[in-house]
Amino acid sequence: MTTETPPPSDSRIDARVLFVEDDALQLMALRRLGEKIVSAVRGAPDGQQGLQVWRDWQPDVIVTDIHMPHMNGLELSAAIKRENPDAQIVVLTADLTDDSLIEALHAGVDRYITKPVDMRLLADAIRKCLRDRDHLKELRLNREITLLNTALQKEKAEHLALIRRLEEAHNQLLQSEKMASIGQLAAGVAHEINNPLGFVTANFSVLQQYIARLSRLLATYAGFENDLSAQERETLAHVKAEIDFEFLNEDISDMFEESSSGLRRVKQIVQSLTDFAEGGGTDFEPCDLHECLETTLSVMTHELKGKTQILREYGDLPMVECIPSEIRQVFMSLLVNAAQAITGEGRIVIRTCRQDDFACIEVADNGHGIPPDILHRIFDPFFTTKPVGEGTGLGLSIAHGIIRKHAGRIDVESAPGQGTTFRVLIPFHRPEAATTTA
Ligand SMILES: Nc1ncnc2c1ncn2[C@@H]1O[C@H](COP(=O)(O)OP(=O)(O)OP(=O)(O)O)[C@@H](O)[C@H]1O
Ligand SMILES: [Mg+2]
Repeated sequence: MTTETPPPSDSRIDARVLFVEDDALQLMALRRLGEKIVSAVRGAPDGQQGLQVWRDWQPDVIVTDIHMPHMNGLELSAAIKRENPDAQIVVLTADLTDDSLIEALHAGVDRYITKPVDMRLLADAIRKCLRDRDHLKELRLNREITLLNTALQKEKAEHLALIRRLEEAHNQLLQSEKMASIGQLAAGVAHEINNPLGFVTANFSVLQQYIARLSRLLATYAGFENDLSAQERETLAHVKAEIDFEFLNEDISDMFEESSSGLRRVKQIVQSLTDFAEGGGTDFEPCDLHECLETTLSVMTHELKGKTQILREYGDLPMVECIPSEIRQVFMSLLVNAAQAITGEGRIVIRTCRQDDFACIEVADNGHGIPPDILHRIFDPFFTTKPVGEGTGLGLSIAHGIIRKHAGRIDVESAPGQGTTFRVLIPFHRPEAATTTA
């Protein structure tokens, strides 16, 4: 049985208070007292009804007796605190030595007032309860704001990471597209050069034979020089001097030697261009990458010149399905570049490990490094910082083409003055359709 009081007068505290008390006379007295202090009061004769009123009416403060039938004050307090830990509960006690009072305070009841209830003390307790409730509300709000802030920061970091990943993917796509179109261009150029190169090389070798034959004829003529008249010999000597015959005779063979080495180099460059465009094109087979590395190192003694220390940090790698000759070519490019980046003494660390379904091979040197402004160009064909004749600038672009064909990827990190690390990832198994991720 519950009833509500009339509207508040100005001097009263604007709050709703529920009194729970089984003694009807005491409940009435409490309500009267309450009406003088706060704007709205209700009453309930036991814990059970008190809980119901609390749920329906949501009072600001509950003032309850401890000892009551059906549900006592302790049980009521526990039930309310379970549903709302911030609820403000004041217990009434006639005896300060009552064990139940201690129990109530331990169970989270906020305050107590002794019976008979003094109006000033009740008003004071209600005010303090309201203040505590506001304080708790503020604390909870602050906590929620902090949690929200943390969640927002986390979300922001995730967004940033996502943007970074998108940028990376975008850059990789751009790089792959660029490589694909440059590959087509390279294939076209290689094809165009290949034809004239073929007949120039063939003609050159025939020309070499013709010159040899003419030289033989000249030598034969020279044998008859003594049979000529003095005037004829003089004319001949004059022509020989005019055309610098002695020098010409010697220089011809040097020029042939230089020209054929030049032709061989052009042929090699055209072959590299074709390799870059096609990535080599032989068979995939299971391959021990450590063996590949060792074979490559064994043919590199000239490049390493004994000044570079090679440190092997080999992990455990399964057989990898790849085209071994091409993968060796990639290793060779990376190792030669690393060796060339080292002036004086230095070291190259070769690390291998498994990374999910990929074999990871790192070639790290402590050479001069790559300046950030050219880092994005090093995979471009013909990009080189090496003196003319020393580098064609095709090593890395071919390596990129090969790794792309293997559906792997190749990355670089470099700190100028400290060194460079190239990381190659090759899938353990041959891709169904070799797609590009590099
Ligand atoms: N380990 C490295 N340290 C410093 N710079 C490097 C390294 N690897 C590559 N580079 C830079 O990248 C450029 C391109 O390398 P790439 O292998 O494609 O061509 P290259 O070595 O110049 O010539 P090529 O390999 O055809 O003989 C190099 O000229 C060099 O500037
Ligand atoms: Mg190179």
